[in-house]
Amino acid sequence: MKMNDGIKRLNKMKEQAQHGGGEQRIKKQHEAGKLTARERLNILLDQNSFQEFDAFVTHRIYDFGMQDKKILGDGVITGIGKVNGRSVAVFSHDFTAYGGTLSETFGQKVNKIMDLALKMGIPIIGLNDSGGARIQEGVVSLAAYAEIFWRNTQASGVIPQISAIMGPCAGGAVYSPALTDFIFMVKGTSYMFITGPEVVKTVTHEEVTFDELGGAQIHASKSGVAHCVTDNDEQCMNEIRKLLSYIPLNNLEEPPFIESDDEPNREDEELNSIIPDDPNKPYRMKDVLLHIVDRDSFFEIHKDYAQNIIVGFARLDGQVVGLIAQEPSIMAGVLDIHSSIKASRFIRFCDCFNIPIITFEDVPGFLPGVLQEHGGIIKHGAKLLYAYCEATVPKITIITRKSYGGAYCVLGSKQVRADINLAWPTAELAVMGPEGAVNITYRKEISEAQDSKSARKQLIDDYRDKFANPYIAAARGYVDDIIEPKQTRRELIKYLNILKTKRDKMPPKKHGNIPL
Ligand code: HXC
Repeated sequence: MKMNDGIKRLNKMKEQAQHGGGEQRIKKQHEAGKLTARERLNILLDQNSFQEFDAFVTHRIYDFGMQDKKILGDGVITGIGKVNGRSVAVFSHDFTAYGGTLSETFGQKVNKIMDLALKMGIPIIGLNDSGGARIQEGVVSLAAYAEIFWRNTQASGVIPQISAIMGPCAGGAVYSPALTDFIFMVKGTSYMFITGPEVVKTVTHEEVTFDELGGAQIHASKSGVAHCVTDNDEQCMNEIRKLLSYIPLNNLEEPPFIESDDEPNREDEELNSIIPDDPNKPYRMKDVLLHIVDRDSFFEIHKDYAQNIIVGFARLDGQVVGLIAQEPSIMAGVLDIHSSIKASRFIRFCDCFNIPIITFEDVPGFLPGVLQEHGGIIKHGAKLLYAYCEATVPKITIITRKSYGGAYCVLGSKQVRADINLAWPTAELAVMGPEGAVNITYRKEISEAQDSKSARKQLIDDYRDKFANPYIAAARGYVDDIIEPKQTRRELIKYLNILKTKRDKMPPKKHGNIPL
């Protein structure tokens, strides 16, 4: 072929590849309230940073009339781009081409980019919008899925993996996102389920809509499958950009430092009065966190799920930290199955990727009840304990008020190897709260007293004086210091700097056996 003709052909094909399944289907995609695979990448990636791979790939199927239906790129766009100047690998399902369904060649493209991401030590971001396995390809498509699942598992803990669900994600296809670190979903246009409403109706006679079964809000608030939910595609891409600003490129790097204009020694008088005098009155722990971290730096994960615990990233004097905090204004901040699972997963992410963990503790204990016991609070609570024990990143725990029972041990106590344990003067560390403790230990005395009400009150006051304070723990070195709440920011930044050189590791093993 002559050079001129060759260049013409190349440009024509490149142009063709830009249009996926064609204008008609792109129009349909827009009408459904969704952006196309390329439009999404344009928002996600820094301008002109995208280097596409395999734009000329087509499928190899000749059955079912597929030989006449070849679309360049085969339903997925893959490549390397930049987010805030740092490299990331991406794949973006193109719903306009065969419904973004996965074929052998589609799978090969995704696998190639995942392999590259792992080799180069950069995050992989998958934008999912797909009808699942391409029916015409049969088991070959299933095999391609399994290859992706294997790579997700190899990459786990080595490079960050982020999934956005921006359309259908059904059947076994859900398991690639499920193996990744964070799942974003878009309200109204995305759904995830193992079997759809039709199958559910046939098997269990339950009638549900797509959205009720596996929409963004259900997964963000009920199942906990989704970590973040957004209103539309554009917001979803921008939130992923934001998340990436907190995480390192891989497990051998530090998270990005961003210079802060928030004064490191800033004191906050409001914190000195944020804890109510009545120990049974709630306050908002989220407010506490916002008073302490760098202005506008808090990025919450799992915001709508298990709200009795808060997890998220923030910065302290520019340094990224992972925050875990009980929320006393929701279910008194009690630890239950969902909050244990939520926090342990987050802690493990931070530990994989060198992000120091700061725990704010105000917890009355584990939630009692038949549902909790039968639901396996023992094994789920054990996950949280395990996650704290195995984490080797810097760990700082600060007790603002209650630290009762098993929750004391679990939530970053000195004995599970937190590096720094601090307490506010309002901290109460004991086996249980004063009321419960007195009822058990003085039952006989109270019932025999002339005025049992005032006897009980006296005993509670005595117990509170003796145990419900941080000084017994401080006398034993279980807390390193008791600090004024208003100085918390300054103290945390100071200790984070001290801990920068921390080196710690688990004994050599194939892998641990976290209770699942
Ligand atoms: C091949 C498919 C397809 C599939 C959709 N298409 N799903 N082609 N295999 N699985 C094609 C359609 O023929 C159509 O092609 C285009 O994609 C868009 O589909 P529409 O139906 O027109 O779009 P919409 O009305 O928006 O509905 C989308 C949908 C629906 C809800 C995803 O298409 C659907 O239910 N598809 C089947 C989903 C499914 O059961 N997949 C298998 C799941 S099991 P044209 O040419 O008209 O544009 C699975 C196993 C994975 O994935 C196992 C891994 C271990």
